[in-house]
Amino acid sequence: MRVPVRSAFRIFPIAGAAVTPQRAVVTPEKCQSCHRSDGTGVAPQLVLHGNNRTEETQVCVMCHNPNNTDIVYRLPTDPKVRLGRYSFPEQSLDFKSLVHGIHASTTGFRTRPLVAIGFNHSIFDAGTLEEYPGKLRNCVTCHVDNGRRGSFELPLKAGVLGTTFDTRSISPTGTVAIDMDPTNDRKVSPTAAVCSSCHDEGEEIDHMVREGGASFDTTQLALDQGLVVERCVRCHGPGRDKSVRKVHEIR
Ligand code: HEC
Ligand code: HEC
Ligand code: HEC
Ligand code: HEC
Ligand code: HEC
Repeated sequence: MRVPVRSAFRIFPIAGAAVTPQRAVVTPEKCQSCHRSDGTGVAPQLVLHGNNRTEETQVCVMCHNPNNTDIVYRLPTDPKVRLGRYSFPEQSLDFKSLVHGIHASTTGFRTRPLVAIGFNHSIFDAGTLEEYPGKLRNCVTCHVDNGRRGSFELPLKAGVLGTTFDTRSISPTGTVAIDMDPTNDRKVSPTAAVCSSCHDEGEEIDHMVREGGASFDTTQLALDQGLVVERCVRCHGPGRDKSVRKVHEIR
């Protein structure tokens, strides 16, 4: 019998004295308004991977970080992932891409539902799940917010990595050899990775690139060296005419 128990975590230094705890972007309690522990919610209990990752989003993000994709079980013959006119061999499992993507697929807001290849090549097609009952644009359903500055607002914290959609593991001839070097990963710049996990339509993606300076095919080095500079904050930053808070009609 498998009994899911809430996962516990502790933050500790591997080397040196000080550590910075991971920022709180969402809280498990917010997720649990739908993913109730007793199974009576509109969505199943938040327990994944054989009942041993349970109701603790700070544990999910250890693995579901920007470098993580579904390459371990993906075959060259699996359908490609598409954002606008960009086509990728893999699905990002970065927690924001995954969780935005899942819920936006259930409402039909995304033009293409998120499909991830899971354990033992099982196909996880978010387009087949129950419809998200809330208002998708209401970011604070999941996000931490003090009414003035919410974790859903721009700019992102400095140092947020670009999100990988191609680990360079699938060769042109169709063989898979898992490439474990993150420096050659093809990345989506970080703000575009957030917004495109819901806004995946062609013109929206083109807008992010043309007006916003985003890239859907770059490397972490290019981001670190400032060769790709996202300008989203100029128009979507706090207080701006098209601020993330205003356009999603949050208070
Ligand atoms: C307003 C309700 C609501 C909230 C809040 C919500 N979800 Fe969901 N979620 C859903 C629904 C509905 C589904 C589809 C359930 C199904 O068909 O199995 C879903 C599916 C999922 C899935 C796919 C696997 C599964 O368990 O079905 C994951 C993972 C998930 N949600 C994570 C989260 C996380 C993490 C949060 C908080 C940051 C969250 N959800 C908040 C409604 C919600
Ligand atoms: C120890 C690492 C690890 C942790 C912790 C973890 N995951 Fe995963 N998760 C993975 C990997 C690797 C995959 C991709 C393929 C697979 O299933 O092995 C994945 C796949 C998924 C998928 C895609 C569908 C599926 O079932 O394969 C969802 C949804 C998911 N994880 C949600 C979560 C949530 C929510 C949490 C926290 C409660 C979590 N994961 C914690 C490693 C992890
Ligand atoms: C169903 C739950 C859910 C909803 C609704 C949601 N988000 Fe998120 N969002 C997440 C999760 C989960 C993460 C990743 C959390 C983490 O990294 O700890 C995230 C991450 C983000 C981040 C990155 C924050 C950071 O510091 O890395 C931004 C920005 C963001 N979301 C914007 C939005 C916006 C804008 C909306 C509303 C239009 C929205 N989100 C709605 C679940 C949600
Ligand atoms: C969780 C999914 C989600 C995320 C993440 C998200 N949005 Fe939205 N966004 C929506 C929804 C839903 C609407 C409302 C669309 C409607 O009412 O037709 C919307 C509306 C908008 C609008 C108003 C224009 C319109 O089409 O109605 C703008 C501008 C916008 N979003 C920008 C952004 C930006 C910038 C980001 C990234 C920082 C972002 N969004 C992230 C779901 C999301
Ligand atoms: C020069 C100002 C400007 C910049 C820079 C900018 N945007 Fe926008 N964006 C807009 C305007 C104006 C709209 C249309 C808003 C509306 O319909 O209310 C928009 C709309 C959007 C939408 C919603 C599209 C839709 O049609 O629903 C998204 C998503 C978005 N922007 C993301 C981004 C991202 C990501 C960046 C940075 C990579 C960015 N924008 C940079 C001005 C800008």
